[in-house]
Amino acid sequence: MKSTLAPRYTRVAIILHWLIALLIVANYVIAWSAEDLPKAELIALMGYHKANGLSILTLTLVRIAWRLVHKGPPFSAALSAWEVALARVTHFLLYFLMLAIPLTGWGMVSGGGDPVSWFGLFEIPALPVGPDKALGGIFHESHEVLAIVMLGLLALHIAGALKHQLLDRDDTMARMAPFLSRR
Ligand code: HEM
Ligand code: HEM
Repeated sequence: MKSTLAPRYTRVAIILHWLIALLIVANYVIAWSAEDLPKAELIALMGYHKANGLSILTLTLVRIAWRLVHKGPPFSAALSAWEVALARVTHFLLYFLMLAIPLTGWGMVSGGGDPVSWFGLFEIPALPVGPDKALGGIFHESHEVLAIVMLGLLALHIAGALKHQLLDRDDTMARMAPFLSRR
């Protein structure tokens, strides 16, 4: 018998959403905790930041490809037009930043032509950006500014999800969280 429950995102989309969210949070925590460490420890920790960041980039490409082939479930009928528009713009900008932040980070560390080690298992080549100091500076500045912009968007995204779950009490959150029962 066909289920009458509100449809969810696909299992793949849900796993990628929460896995990438976890890795992104870890990358902020790593970058912030590395700041005041002695040089050797800072370099070691930022090695994890770079490898983790390139994993986020790869998983995001897979996720966007998956998303282009599998449409998301429809929004709850109770949502107003502005809420749908705000959610769409926020999601689009989040995808953009999930690509732009790791790419600017990779560009920033590629000036010397050194590859990035992926947790000591294999090496990922530098981007062909050349030793241009000004360009390196732009990547560096953009990386930091975009990471702050993403924090703002994530605050909005999470506030929206919690508003739907706790105040509106609709199915928005259950579409992305399989452990929540649908109302
Ligand atoms: C780094 C953290 C996160 C990122 C980058 C992120 C990103 C995204 C993106 C891009 C979408 C759009 C999915 C699509 O339609 O293709 C989405 C959907 C969603 N996210 Fe997140 N998310 C994060 C954390 C969270 C957290 C912590 C929550 C819950 C508190 C959450 C709840 C949701 C919900 C409920 C949806 C479905 C919304 C809808 O379809 O209208 N996300 N997320
Ligand atoms: C989604 C993935 C990423 C996030 C969220 C992220 C976030 C951040 C944050 C918050 C900082 C600290 C900025 C500050 O001090 O104000 C930082 C610094 C840094 N990131 Fe990333 N990053 C990501 C990916 C990458 C990648 C892929 C690389 C390189 C391959 C990279 C290389 C660096 C470097 C070298 C720094 C230190 C910059 C400095 O010395 O000031 N990041 N990142």
